[in-house]
Amino acid sequence: MTSGRHFLQIPGPTNVPERVLRAMDRPIPDHRGPEMPSLVAEIRAGLRSVFKSEQGEPVVFPGSGTGAWEASLVNTLSPGDRVLSFENGHFARLYAEAARQLGMQVDDVKLRWGDAVTQSDVEANLKPEHRAVLIVHNETSTGVTTDVGAVRRGIDRTGRDPLLLVDVVSSLGSMDFRMAEWRVDVALTGTQKGLMLPPGGAILCVGPRALEAAEKNRAPRYFYDWRPVIRDMQQGFFPYTPATLLLFGLREALRMLLEEGLDDVFARHRRLAQATREAVRAWGMSLLASDPARASNSLTAVVVEEIDSTAVVKVAAERLNLALGVGLGQLRGRVFRIGHLGSLNELEVLATLAGTELALLYSGQPIELGVGVAAAQRFFAGIKADAKLAAAETRGATPERVG
Ligand SMILES: Cc1ncc(COP(=O)(O)O)c(C=O)c1O
Repeated sequence: MTSGRHFLQIPGPTNVPERVLRAMDRPIPDHRGPEMPSLVAEIRAGLRSVFKSEQGEPVVFPGSGTGAWEASLVNTLSPGDRVLSFENGHFARLYAEAARQLGMQVDDVKLRWGDAVTQSDVEANLKPEHRAVLIVHNETSTGVTTDVGAVRRGIDRTGRDPLLLVDVVSSLGSMDFRMAEWRVDVALTGTQKGLMLPPGGAILCVGPRALEAAEKNRAPRYFYDWRPVIRDMQQGFFPYTPATLLLFGLREALRMLLEEGLDDVFARHRRLAQATREAVRAWGMSLLASDPARASNSLTAVVVEEIDSTAVVKVAAERLNLALGVGLGQLRGRVFRIGHLGSLNELEVLATLAGTELALLYSGQPIELGVGVAAAQRFFAGIKADAKLAAAETRGATPERVG
């Protein structure tokens, strides 16, 4: 199927809006030229708004989320430093692995993949020797969001003061994240998810304590040393050749998020996620998230019992031009993931759910076509799905509205 639109509904990279594509469609500028200072100043201000940190220093590297992990670690920590992490999914596991490979001593608390990290997990495991706590705000492999405010309360309750490093790769620009309020020392992401850009950029926001730690840190680092980048970005430039077209896209994407209003962006994601969860329930399938209150608003991981979930993803790609996310790590074959983040609206979610139903049917999963789509439509229309109401609907009565 080659005509029509490709449905890229993996949990990142996400669809790049026309406005962003147009902003990047330009001749390559001189990265030491006169256009740069105003571009970089607007990006710095926009990133501070999106990270919700007036004091944080935004840092942009060519790279990806993985590079941003490395930057967060090599600047603030030295080989031999002890750090605390919580393995509640594939990306939390890999962030800890990055720290281990860089020589840190990692105390990795194993949780069920599908759980959030809780305040009591932090209180029970944080020791005086821990120099940093690593948290993944939204675990993209499981569709579970950790309450970073609760993590902060857990740290405070112990009276200790480690650095708090938070991966916001699949939450920033989609879900509420409050760097200053939660006293996060480093927050890090890639360009390809809630920021609605192509892959290729690693972005961090660095708080005052992390800046100070990086100054004192004697450990070797070069490309990912954020000090020259911060210094040059403050003047509107970079110490290396930046991904200039991506920067023009980033400025436009930040404008779009701020024009829509962050609260409205988060409400839209909440609504699209809730509709998706209604569909999953109507299919008689379950979320991987153990606690529905912690189910992610940027993606949904659906458990597949009868068949290998990879088959659902494969048939969706081959027969429907619909890209869904596979199960990662120990979840391979057990879940598939529906991305509902970035530049996305209700009709696109309904089409994605309709395609997912067909993919489930084609791959042999017992499913009644249309039930998930109808459940999501009812949710969007504000119609309660109880039997009394269904009867009223068929009689043509005005359906009861829910808030
Ligand atoms: C939560 C999270 N952290 C880190 C990464 C790694 O980022 P990248 O693939 O851009 O290197 C991803 C990728 O999907 C992610 O979802």
